[in-house]
Amino acid sequence: MTQVRAAITGIHGWVPDYILTNAELEKMVDTTDEWIMTRTGIRERHILKGEGLGSSDIGAEAVKGLLKKTNTAPDDIDLLIMATVTPDMLFPASSNIVCDKVGIKNAWSFDMNAACSGFLFALNTAAKFVESGQYKKVIVVGADKMSAITDYTDRTTCVLFGDAGGAVLLEPNTDGYGIIDSQNYTDGSGRIYLYQTAGGSVKPPTHETIDAREHYIHQEGQQVFKFAVKGMADVSVEMMERNNLTSDDIAYLIPHQANLRIIDATARRMGLDPEKVTINIERYGNTTNGTIPMCMHEWEHKIKKGDNIILAAFGGGFTWGAMYIKWAYDPK
Ligand code: UT7
Repeated sequence: MTQVRAAITGIHGWVPDYILTNAELEKMVDTTDEWIMTRTGIRERHILKGEGLGSSDIGAEAVKGLLKKTNTAPDDIDLLIMATVTPDMLFPASSNIVCDKVGIKNAWSFDMNAACSGFLFALNTAAKFVESGQYKKVIVVGADKMSAITDYTDRTTCVLFGDAGGAVLLEPNTDGYGIIDSQNYTDGSGRIYLYQTAGGSVKPPTHETIDAREHYIHQEGQQVFKFAVKGMADVSVEMMERNNLTSDDIAYLIPHQANLRIIDATARRMGLDPEKVTINIERYGNTTNGTIPMCMHEWEHKIKKGDNIILAAFGGGFTWGAMYIKWAYDPK
């Protein structure tokens, strides 16, 4: 029987207009452009401004662009999965809201929270529905308004994050293209290093939690760095080894963009030349679920049919993983 794979057949990314530069951050907290660039590789990030706007608005822009680019009618979508750590609200799911905003009426949709690995986890999940034959057109959206949970008085985190999103269309492929292999991991003992203390069921928001700024991201940067370097590199190498891929076989590594030094370490372990690594962290910072689809969107014009692509991510949880894709189409 011919194997059905889930192939990405379109991609679109979206960022809001407002740009928050390192120069501007220098006026807000005790930091320097030099520190931020050397330690992270980030020069600027985009921020969603405006009352009443959330991650669903970022996701909806990405999906609208995707539907247009791929000439797909909203009614043809069977399932939409949205990866986000900054849902519009705890419930209903932002995926439900995105569907409503873009006119997807006859589909199932749900959110996935795997912090910075969310897009990868959602893509793996979505692929199963296509491979099983249950669904023909599935959208995976990664979108985050990280500015909503970033403390702009905390120099250790506010320089890192930005807002962005992207969406891909998955369809069945029987010619050997699409998602070939995927491996995801979680380790909840890592929750003590990267988290948002208040706002959930353990610590519902109160005046005290707000005053203590507990509804913002808290990160033990060095600890996360240590685990991220090992986790992302190990799983990427695992993906290469079990699919008999050498560095020559790989066209591009598309990694989560949390820190240029983590990306470089992963690429080195994989033996990849720098031109094979997609990097846009300088312009967007860490947009959590937006990083991988934004890179895909910006490199789409270079990726050719048959190219071997490795995706890799590491995030809060801890969560991490890698995916091997044989790209299904030439630049349009
Ligand atoms: O995407 C989800 C997963 N997240 C990650 O993968 C992030 C992983 N962690 C990192 O990327 C890095 O740890 C950071 C970029 C967050 C921090 O870089 P670092 O090289 O680990 O710096 P550090 O935390 O060890 O801090 C070094 C120094 C400290 O000062 P002292 O104690 O040496 O005097 C910090 O207080 O740098 C100081 N510092 C800053 N200085 C200027 C921390 N933030 C800043 C800042 N500007 N923005």
